[in-house]
Amino acid sequence: MNKVLITGVAGLLGSRLASWIIENTNYEVIGIDDLSGGYTENIHNKVKFYKFNLNNLEALKGVFEKEKISIVYHFAAYAAEGLSPFIRKYNYDNNLITSTNLITCSIQYNVSRFIFASSMSVYGDKYKPPFSEDMKQAPIDPYAVAKYAVEMDLEIAFKQHGLNYTIVRPHNFYGINQNIWDKYRNVLGIWMYQLLNKQNPTIFGDGSQIRAFSYVDDSIIPFWNASQKDNCIGEIINLGGIKEYTINDACDALINVTGQNLNQYI
Ligand SMILES: NC(=O)c1ccc[n+]([C@@H]2O[C@H](COP(=O)([O-])OP(=O)(O)OC[C@H]3O[C@@H](n4cnc5c(N)ncnc54)[C@H](O)[C@@H]3O)[C@@H](O)[C@H]2O)c1
Repeated sequence: MNKVLITGVAGLLGSRLASWIIENTNYEVIGIDDLSGGYTENIHNKVKFYKFNLNNLEALKGVFEKEKISIVYHFAAYAAEGLSPFIRKYNYDNNLITSTNLITCSIQYNVSRFIFASSMSVYGDKYKPPFSEDMKQAPIDPYAVAKYAVEMDLEIAFKQHGLNYTIVRPHNFYGINQNIWDKYRNVLGIWMYQLLNKQNPTIFGDGSQIRAFSYVDDSIIPFWNASQKDNCIGEIINLGGIKEYTINDACDALINVTGQNLNQYI
């Protein structure tokens, strides 16, 4: 049976894709996660799970040696963009060095496709949304620098070693299996935590800032196609909702969904 390796399999995007692959395809799913930000409860019981940090190159080589992986999905990262200037070394160790370990093994063990979850943050503050894939990356924080570096390394690995990569840049996904305990991440997750803990949702400024949001399961088919369609090889794909909401509207929608009454906390 063909095997897909998913890193970050206990997290939001990785866990949902893993479950879908198991339930809808003939592929076996091998998962790696160090559980630094994800949860074992998120992992489908048919995933063959390895718990370790991707900075452990020997452990990673062991998995490739044993499992004969054909497709790699690389989701593992600590995605705290705003915090990254204050945790520089951790950011690069955890998001860049780990990725080069995975790329090295993918070259050595001849995987057929490598799908990397990058980020819209690579655009920095140079352009106004919507972003198109032909805009040049211009990162302004270490998290985005690490993502950009991995994008570049993949391009080189493709040219020099024939590693068939696709870069997918997800934007603002939320939903089932999301980590809502980390206050440095996705704004909807932060609000969910606050509402569950009977706190007022934090809004910076007047809340008129515009954002687009996407439900996690809407990412599954695009991610799956990225490894199945030959015209995705060597491509960058921006992935996210196009309908925009103000931060105030998004917050009101969440308050309605959770049935929480803001005024009760004032
Ligand atoms: N969710 C989004 O909207 C979004 C937007 C832009 C980019 N991304 C990128 O997509 C990927 C997945 O995002 P997510 O929202 O599912 O994140 P997530 O935090 O829910 O999942 C990441 C998983 O990776 C694991 N992990 C982190 N560092 C690891 C390491 N060194 N070794 C092994 N496991 C490790 C964590 O334990 C966690 O389970 C990330 O790379 C993120 O940067 C996501």
